[in-house]
Amino acid sequence: MSTLRDITRKGLQCLRERGVDRVALDGEARVILQNWIAPPAADGRKTAERELSTPEQKIAYLRARAEHWSAARRLGTLRERMVFSTGDAHARLVLVGEAPGYDEERLGEPFVGKAGQKLNEILHAMGLAREKVYITNICKFRPSMGERQGTANRAPDPEEIAACLPIVQAELRAIRPACILCLGATAAHGLLGQQGSVGSLRGAWWEHDGIPVRVTYHPSYLLRNEALSARRAVWEDMLAVMEKLEIPISDKQRGYFLPRT
Ligand code: URA
Repeated sequence: MSTLRDITRKGLQCLRERGVDRVALDGEARVILQNWIAPPAADGRKTAERELSTPEQKIAYLRARAEHWSAARRLGTLRERMVFSTGDAHARLVLVGEAPGYDEERLGEPFVGKAGQKLNEILHAMGLAREKVYITNICKFRPSMGERQGTANRAPDPEEIAACLPIVQAELRAIRPACILCLGATAAHGLLGQQGSVGSLRGAWWEHDGIPVRVTYHPSYLLRNEALSARRAVWEDMLAVMEKLEIPISDKQRGYFLPRT
């Protein structure tokens, strides 16, 4: 089977035979080609990452690497399609979810199903546009359930998380946000190396590589639990994040999901 690399090489050879000696490349294509021509050695990875100057270039490089991420692919427990992150490489807030599910795998973007709609509502209530934050998953591939898969999803296991973690860590090094928000226990366990329920991890500031981290319930928890107390708990975490980011908070926002007196 021809790889994308073979197809690209043949395409370029064809152009050269026809006398074309220049092609226009966008930033992402440039990074992918550079990577093919001079792939970074295992111990040179950080150097290659450092040589790319803007966060966008670094993220494009990481997207290309994630596509061929052998540490994850060789496990044989993750599905084929890599679903990379979305959003602004200059974001002040990075959200870390669990893994792509059925909808995300189909559309190739994190948080585009029902949990994604809930997440968009939360961001909207905070006054943040989805495009202005950066949304990633601790595992970049939908975990496989073999023949039972259908539309069902499962959480990534520790091995699957460990395989993808270097990509997430590199994304965070590229972006250096002011704040990270872990959505759910799986993301928190993977990023912070802390065990425990969300209930025990939320309500405090943690740290990843010098960046403050907050933990909250996964948006899908709010789809299962519509109690005002659950919504208020998540909202209090969002208020803490807004304060950290110095986003102005109105009295109305402060009072969201409080019981009516
Ligand atoms: N849940 C996640 O944690 N990530 C997604 O991308 C979608 C649902």
